[in-house]
Amino acid sequence: MKVDGVSYRSIWRDPSETTVTVVDQTLLPHRFDTLKLMNVADAIDAIKRMVVRGAPLIGVTGAYGYAMALRDDPSDANVDAAFDAINAARPTAVNLRWALEILRREIRDLAPDDRAVAAYVVADRLRAEDIETNGAIAEQGARLVREIYEANGRSRPVNILTHCNTGWIACVDWGTALGVIYRAHDDGIPVHVWVDETRPRNQGASLTTWELGSHGVPHTLIVDNAGGHLMQHGQVDICLVGADRVTASGDACNKIGTYLKALAAKDNHVPFYVVLPGSTIDWNMEDGVAEIEIEERASDEVTHISGVAGDGSIVKVRLAPKGTKVGNPAFDVTPARLVTGLVTERGVAEASRAGLLGLYPEKA
Ligand code: MRU
Repeated sequence: MKVDGVSYRSIWRDPSETTVTVVDQTLLPHRFDTLKLMNVADAIDAIKRMVVRGAPLIGVTGAYGYAMALRDDPSDANVDAAFDAINAARPTAVNLRWALEILRREIRDLAPDDRAVAAYVVADRLRAEDIETNGAIAEQGARLVREIYEANGRSRPVNILTHCNTGWIACVDWGTALGVIYRAHDDGIPVHVWVDETRPRNQGASLTTWELGSHGVPHTLIVDNAGGHLMQHGQVDICLVGADRVTASGDACNKIGTYLKALAAKDNHVPFYVVLPGSTIDWNMEDGVAEIEIEERASDEVTHISGVAGDGSIVKVRLAPKGTKVGNPAFDVTPARLVTGLVTERGVAEASRAGLLGLYPEKA
């Protein structure tokens, strides 16, 4: 995607080097800057501090981190030690483990001296596949948006509600739910997006608005609690959200607050779609509420807020009294019964094991 007319992806290999550069998402929308990751410690730090974030991008960053770890120490012991260290950086998005497992499978039986080169080949391939997959997801999902536009007699823009950030900076390019919106917009379907601010990290307010604005997609920022009201008043035609892990039975784990939107959508007969690549499906899990580990993040994400001051500096200020006890679960699980459908690169599935196996029969 373009930033001030220049094409970017969220992560890239530095020319003829073994390091990678990423867009520093902690500075957006106030400043667009990049950060060079020199080694596995840098990659883990970037994932933990959310310099990079979004399930697909976490996976690709983890893969490059693993390649850098093997560049520096290709021993048998480090094959597992590096895997475990990177995998522990963030627990909820399954794409991290997915990418690390693919890479480990492909390098494990090689001689130690051959591992790093092979690891970079795999990481580069996962990066390229992410772009291709998101393009296919966008095409599948844009059909749903077109159907609503046609059903409304082409009389007005399709109102889409989204949560968190699922755009090109959450992936390598395009995005998942936001990729669908870009594709619909680029295809000439008039859309308008309600953007949930997404407390506490404000990915909606800071990142989704920045992305949609840069791409010229009409949008309105709303507080997290406004969605139900808008749905009651017929102002939302469809909800499109991403996912960090979807179980084999179709339960969808996504940014905290997604579940409440799904409940409101059900009560108001608004279609609620979860948009995801196949790499986000955890075939080893069934009951998302019982089984998915929900990341608990630092309390200062809730007690404090960051923004840009009058002099242009980025500052952090406190909202709550000092010493306030805080709970900060970063994700929640929307049960399959509240999900109208799962939009993937292979098509739209019912949120159920049978629905997913219809698209991924090799997992039977
Ligand atoms: O905590 P984050 O910002 O990494 O959470 C991201 C989300 O919840 C996204 O909606 C999800 O990863 C899908 S992104 C394509």
